[in-house]
Amino acid sequence: MWFCGLSGSGKTTISMALQQQLVQEGYEVVVFDGDVVRKGISKDLGFSPEDRTENIFRVAQACKNVSQRGVLAISATISPYESHRVMAGEMLGDTMKCIYLDASLQVCQDRDVKGLYAKAMAGEITNFTGVSDIFEPPQHPDLVLHTGQDSVEVCVRKLYQFLCRDVLGTTP
Ligand code: ADX
Repeated sequence: MWFCGLSGSGKTTISMALQQQLVQEGYEVVVFDGDVVRKGISKDLGFSPEDRTENIFRVAQACKNVSQRGVLAISATISPYESHRVMAGEMLGDTMKCIYLDASLQVCQDRDVKGLYAKAMAGEITNFTGVSDIFEPPQHPDLVLHTGQDSVEVCVRKLYQFLCRDVLGTTP
C-alpha cells in the first residue's frame, strides 16, 4: 500500500492504526514511515528532487523485498512527485495500491504537529513540500482518504474495507 500526502496529512497515524488492526488479525505488516526511514536506510539523503527520488527508490525496494515474503508492506512517505508513484508502481507491479491522504495544505499547516511548516514559512527549512517544493496529487489513486475532514477511525475503516475488498479478497 503506497500512501502519499503532505507532511501532517496523517500517513503515520493511519498506517500505524491499520497495522495494529491487521496484526491483531494475524497478518504480518511492515510500515516504512518517512521520518523513520530517514533516520535509517535513507539517513544520507536530503530533500532535493534527486534525493527524494532515491529515497522513494529505496523504500520501494524494501517494500518489494518484504512483500515477496508474504508481508504486507505500507509505505508512508510523502512521495510528492507523480514520477515517484510511477516508479514505485513499476517496481512493485499491480499489487501496489496508491492511497492518497488528501488533506489541504491549510489543514496541515494549521496542525503543524512537528512545527516544520512554521520553520519552512520562516525560511529556516528549504525545499519544504507544500511551501517551497511541489506536491503533485496522484493522477490515478486507488483510494482517496479525506484526512482533513474525516476522523482517523473513519479513514482507517475505509482503508480496511478497501484492503479486504480489493487486495486481500476477504470480507470486511
Ligand atoms: S519524501 O519526499 O522523500 O517522500 P519523506 O516522507 O521520506 O519525504 O520524509 C518527509 C518527512 O521529513 C516529513 O514528514 C518531515 O517530518 C521531514 N522533513 C524534513 N525536511 C523536509 C522537507 N524539506 N520537505 C518535506 N519533509 C521534510
